[in-house]
Amino acid sequence: MKKTIQFPNGESVLNLGQGTWKLGEDPSKHDQEVDALRTGIDKGLTLIDTAEMYGSGKSEQLVGDAIKPYSREDLFLVSKVYPHNAGEKNIFQSAEQTLQRMGVDELDLYLLHWPGSVPLQETVDCFEELKRQGKIKNWGVSNFDLEDMQELLSLRNGENCQTNQVLYHLASRGIEVVLRDYLRENNIPMMAYCPIIGQEPDLKDKVYNSPTIKNIAKDHGISVIQLLLAFVMQQEQTIAIPKASSSDHVSQNVDVLDISLSKEEMSLLDEAFPAPNERIPLRVQ
Ligand SMILES: NC(=O)c1ccc[n+]([C@@H]2O[C@H](COP(=O)([O-])OP(=O)(O)OC[C@H]3O[C@@H](n4cnc5c(N)ncnc54)[C@H](OP(=O)(O)O)[C@@H]3O)[C@@H](O)[C@H]2O)c1
Repeated sequence: MKKTIQFPNGESVLNLGQGTWKLGEDPSKHDQEVDALRTGIDKGLTLIDTAEMYGSGKSEQLVGDAIKPYSREDLFLVSKVYPHNAGEKNIFQSAEQTLQRMGVDELDLYLLHWPGSVPLQETVDCFEELKRQGKIKNWGVSNFDLEDMQELLSLRNGENCQTNQVLYHLASRGIEVVLRDYLRENNIPMMAYCPIIGQEPDLKDKVYNSPTIKNIAKDHGISVIQLLLAFVMQQEQTIAIPKASSSDHVSQNVDVLDISLSKEEMSLLDEAFPAPNERIPLRVQ
């Protein structure tokens, strides 16, 4: 279902973007992956998520190659800094290298990849300094559980956080217990990574073969993967960032913008893959 998601600073994006973990690592797939990302951009998936970690910069480089023909203002570029680089000693160099690899002057969002040992206030101060320098428009976090978010929002300028990027898919719904409510109360949209269970082959098999999933997908004339994506995209204040390395896959994901699941279908999915009853620690990949 197509939705517009608004960040606290007022900027809006579509609820579907493009992930890039593992893209750019195999030179023989370079052109195909560039085509895939461009197919997405041409079809409106202008939010692209990468990280300095991915392929040690190769993903950022691939994104840089893919976005060359486009106007910068038509794109929404997100990258992430390693926690060990997220302090005043390294972050300015990290950000500069990210910008160079992507061939742009400024990121739309710069995220702390996961909580680390650099004091959080130092990271926030550095993000704010990067904003002043015009290197990033805004910043956010990733893999932050409830207590991490509470700490962040208690800090000077912590309220400037624009998003929390977390693992979320139909078979991993722990965030629904408390974290999601906390983010909503504070008006912070969530970016859902691994929305189609990309990194868990065993779980993937179980979910993909569920009769409930197969039946609902069949009723809509879509694949089970498209159904998984539809489930995530139907959630409030949630941006799904599936990674796809072929134009065909990207196009199939774009088609999900037109899929709307009924209340009954959502209830059936709930029954087959319920959220946990109690809080569990945030899962990470
Ligand atoms: N913040 C974090 O810590 C964190 C952690 C993990 C991921 N992420 C971000 O989230 C993004 C998405 O997560 P992910 O890449 O781990 O997993 P994912 O998006 O759930 O799944 C990716 C897998 O799905 C396949 N796929 C995509 N579209 C498809 C389609 N229409 N039909 C069939 N298969 C399809 C891809 O295959 P092909 O490649 O062959 O198309 C790939 O194998 C990452 O790329 C990254 O940007 C962030």
